[in-house]
Amino acid sequence: MTKTIRTQVGIIGSGPAGLLLSHLLHQQGIETIILERQSREHVEGRIRAGVLEQGTAWLMREAGVNERLDREGLVHDGVSLAFGGRMERIDFKAHTGKGVIVYGQTEMTRDFIQARLDAGGSIEFEAPALAVEDYRTGSPRIVYQKNGETQELSCDFVAGCDGFHGVARESIPAEQLTLYEKVYPFAWLGILADVPPVNDELIYVNHERGFALCSMRSHTRSRYYIQCSFDDKVENWSDDAFWDELRCRLPPSAVEKLVTGQRLEMSITPLRGFVAEPMSFGKLFLAGDAAHIMPPTGAKGLNLAASDVFYLSRALIAYYAEKRTDLLDRYSETALRRVWGSIRFSLWYTGLLHKFGDDPFNHRLQMADLAYLTSSEAAGTAFAENYVGLPFEKFE
Ligand code: APR
Ligand code: PHB
Repeated sequence: MTKTIRTQVGIIGSGPAGLLLSHLLHQQGIETIILERQSREHVEGRIRAGVLEQGTAWLMREAGVNERLDREGLVHDGVSLAFGGRMERIDFKAHTGKGVIVYGQTEMTRDFIQARLDAGGSIEFEAPALAVEDYRTGSPRIVYQKNGETQELSCDFVAGCDGFHGVARESIPAEQLTLYEKVYPFAWLGILADVPPVNDELIYVNHERGFALCSMRSHTRSRYYIQCSFDDKVENWSDDAFWDELRCRLPPSAVEKLVTGQRLEMSITPLRGFVAEPMSFGKLFLAGDAAHIMPPTGAKGLNLAASDVFYLSRALIAYYAEKRTDLLDRYSETALRRVWGSIRFSLWYTGLLHKFGDDPFNHRLQMADLAYLTSSEAAGTAFAENYVGLPFEKFE
């Protein structure tokens, strides 16, 4: 017989979206259960991006999970852009009064899993959701597997926070979804190594051989990326080959400071823009990568997952506290406004920095765009405003 358990909000996925939502709801006395396909070790070991907008850091503080963030997060007030033999800095703080915080998504995930468990929260690891059912009715159910048995989680609402390959979006009939997609013919090859970063801030590089990015996780741990072909494989790259190619693309001042070392991790990230609309269906709500993917340029993926959760948590809290349904009804359109704002920036920034074939016309345009961006006050402000994060909309 199928075992059924019950909660108020059933959450699929213990990535940043699911964990943040669960903890914010818990603080308002709303009960959740998270179903996660992978093991805790697997979830805590995944290497992802690492730049938090102020809104994301603010939400972590709201959730009370900021102790390590405040101690270990690195505040960055600008970035540098290297192109055409030059390196120019854009000062976020001067343009917007704000900065960003470099703190690994891996660390954020670990902090939230610990906080959920410390607060007595329920995360079922190795419990893949198979389908969401009856989400148009008053009592939706998540069918999932645990210890080889099929079980059900019955709830008031379902939050599909199960990433791009999850089942929440798959449970919706295809004809009810509109999908927007842009796939790029290249990818990023990333290395993580325990070596001091080449610079105090991030450096984004437009080079004739392709894009490169110097990022970091701490003063002693660096994250570097180089543009590679979309069908490239990690097996094709030795550590030395990676460092040699990176050296070719960096400006001389950075090459001088480059310290190389053995990889802790190396992986390939495909570049894709994807949005599924709408983001809600009756009592099923999508948040984060389940609804949209950004190309990683500008590190918006995690931050958009956080802004979706901001809107969804507010709407659910208003429902339980005041029986209000208007915020839930507006969730999709509100969240999508910010999604399209961020995707606009991510796609533009991707176009500005990557090598698109051998088209010299495109390269000259990129150089002109970069020269304008780094010399015009107005263009610098527009860039900084988007990089540090567009504001969350306020609710009445
Ligand atoms: N059942 C249960 N869990 C699932 C299922 C399923 N059928 N399918 C996927 N999951 C889990 C994944 O194992 C993962 O832990 O859902 C979680 C989704 O987490 P993320 O992929 O991290 O997505 P999200 O929380 O939206 O965070 C977005 O993470 O992927 C990055 O670049 C992305 O930075 C962005 C951020
Ligand atoms: C990262 O550190 O992984 C990172 C930083 C900035 C980006 C993308 C990824 O734009």
